[in-house]
Amino acid sequence: MVGSRVTAFVAYDSFGGGGARAKAGVFKREGVVLGMSAVDGISADEPVPPTIDTTKPSIARVYDMFLGGKDHYEVDREVYRRTMEISPEVPLLTRAFRQWLIRVVRFLASGPGIDQILDCGSGLPTAENTHQVAQRVRPETTVVYVDNDPMVIAHGRALLEENDRTHFVDADLRDPEALLAHPAVTRYLDMNRPLALMQCATLHHVSDEDNPGELMARYIEALPSGSYVAISHFCDPADGSEMSELARMLETNLRNAVGSGWCRTYSQIESLFCGLELVEPGLVPAADWWPDGPRVRPLSAVEHIAYGAVARKP
Ligand SMILES: C[S@@+](CC[C@H](N)C(=O)[O-])C[C@H]1O[C@@H](n2cnc3c(N)ncnc32)[C@H](O)[C@@H]1O
Repeated sequence: MVGSRVTAFVAYDSFGGGGARAKAGVFKREGVVLGMSAVDGISADEPVPPTIDTTKPSIARVYDMFLGGKDHYEVDREVYRRTMEISPEVPLLTRAFRQWLIRVVRFLASGPGIDQILDCGSGLPTAENTHQVAQRVRPETTVVYVDNDPMVIAHGRALLEENDRTHFVDADLRDPEALLAHPAVTRYLDMNRPLALMQCATLHHVSDEDNPGELMARYIEALPSGSYVAISHFCDPADGSEMSELARMLETNLRNAVGSGWCRTYSQIESLFCGLELVEPGLVPAADWWPDGPRVRPLSAVEHIAYGAVARKP
């Protein structure tokens, strides 16, 4: 049922303060109400797609909640509350990741002129999605979104496939060959021309056993020359500092809650680029990667845990 296209009626305001973003939204499929995405949140009384497990928190829903979204259940809210007890500044961390993504997409579209993007782990639709940022600069941009969370799949199909240049793929990013061979990927992305591969706040949900470095090597190998790779990731400075201690606490909390979430060191994150040359300023706290203006306050400790970088394949 979730794999079918659903229609939704959702309006967003901008980021901010945890205020309601989804003004109204009832998911319908052939006249059947599936769930609510509204100022009231998702009602436990409403039928939801059977693939959505409301008894377990989901990475996408918890992340969305930290961005101020409304697509979550009580289990997700419990994770939110526990995390806020560790640090009430965690919304700054998620916002740093998301605003970094927006600046990266704007750069890729306006600087090197990238007009095709593979956005792995898209997350729930939010105020500014990859295709909106890219197509504002370069209207012809094609974006293929990928996620494997049932809620993201339902919302993504409804909201991210907004025009004939945006597509949504239900796939596991830990299987690069299957993902790159997916009919929507091969049909809409031209692997003979440069594209951008985005792994934003995704690889810290890939365990060491699943070897994110090896996965990235396989993605990068498949990319055409002139392509760009964007990665954001939780970073543990591993130096005994307050930041490192906070990183460890947030990691334990997240792993206990959703089963994944690894804070890796600077050099471990850097290695995910497999030797590609990083675009200036390199791998830095996401908030410090070409900020939109001068810093008006010091970065909080949590913002030192959110790192990001962009690289180019020669
Ligand atoms: C923290 S959110 C990040 C969303 C967005 N990329 C951003 O940076 O704002 C991580 C997303 O990756 C997705 N994800 C995690 N593991 C995945 C996997 N193995 N395959 C596909 N998607 C995955 C989750 O469902 C979630 O939507």
